[in-house]
Amino acid sequence: MTRPTCPHPARFGVFDSGLGGLSVLKALRQRLPASELIYVADSGHAPYGERSDAFIQQRSEVVARFLVEQQIDVLVIACNTATAVAAQSLRAQWPDLPVVGVEPGLKPAVAQSAQGRVGVLATEGTLRSEKFQRLAASFADQATLVLQACPGLAGAIEAGDVDALAVRERVEACCAPLRQQQVDTVVLGCTHYPFVAHHIQAALGSDVTLIDTAEAVARQAERLHLAMPAKGHSSSRSSNARTPSGALAVQLYTSGSVTGLRDIANRWLDFDCEVSMLPMPR
Ligand code: DGL
Repeated sequence: MTRPTCPHPARFGVFDSGLGGLSVLKALRQRLPASELIYVADSGHAPYGERSDAFIQQRSEVVARFLVEQQIDVLVIACNTATAVAAQSLRAQWPDLPVVGVEPGLKPAVAQSAQGRVGVLATEGTLRSEKFQRLAASFADQATLVLQACPGLAGAIEAGDVDALAVRERVEACCAPLRQQQVDTVVLGCTHYPFVAHHIQAALGSDVTLIDTAEAVARQAERLHLAMPAKGHSSSRSSNARTPSGALAVQLYTSGSVTGLRDIANRWLDFDCEVSMLPMPR
């Protein structure tokens, strides 16, 4: 089957509490190479998953407003925690803006689990949210779900060295209970975790299947984009900078360290990015 090609490249705004959403950005770039991508890492306020709902909502709104000001066509919340806590209020605030969220991939996990024993690794914020509780309840009769919060893991990944001892210790602490429960499938329910999938896989054993939803999120963003009427806004808004090869550069903004994000982007992404500070007051 041939994939539909995008008739009108769009501008996508993408955000996460920090670096984790870069896993989604990678999938978006692969799927929508002609579109403009603007990413905000709210690293100055990460991790979201151990904060109050009010804090997560307030930060999500600040970051989304910045992206809306960049005249984006689609907002991608590349954060399970922000989606669970703030997606509804962002949709209410910008009712005309298509919003794609990300949630732990219980559906594909339950569908592929041979033993019906599924582990979910996610932040405390995601697991306690009503949205996730409803999602989990809808699969309760189909599989045994073992929910595992991972305090400290996203924060350790934010430090940038995914092979650091602190990261490996956190991974081991989060995976041990899932091993004990003999799950055969594990959902990576936080966009930071794909960057440590190799450690998670080693801690759980090679028989366990890991589920990541980055691809599915990119497909959903593409679907929404294809359903949108062409706006022809190339003349009404400035276009992002181009790389020497003529490709559109991906714009990255951070509320944390610009050098830190630039360094991570160079190591984790296989395309050119321009990195800037998220303008103040943020
Ligand atoms: N990457 C985020 C998620 O998908 C949150 C990590 C955090 O800031 O706690 O939930």
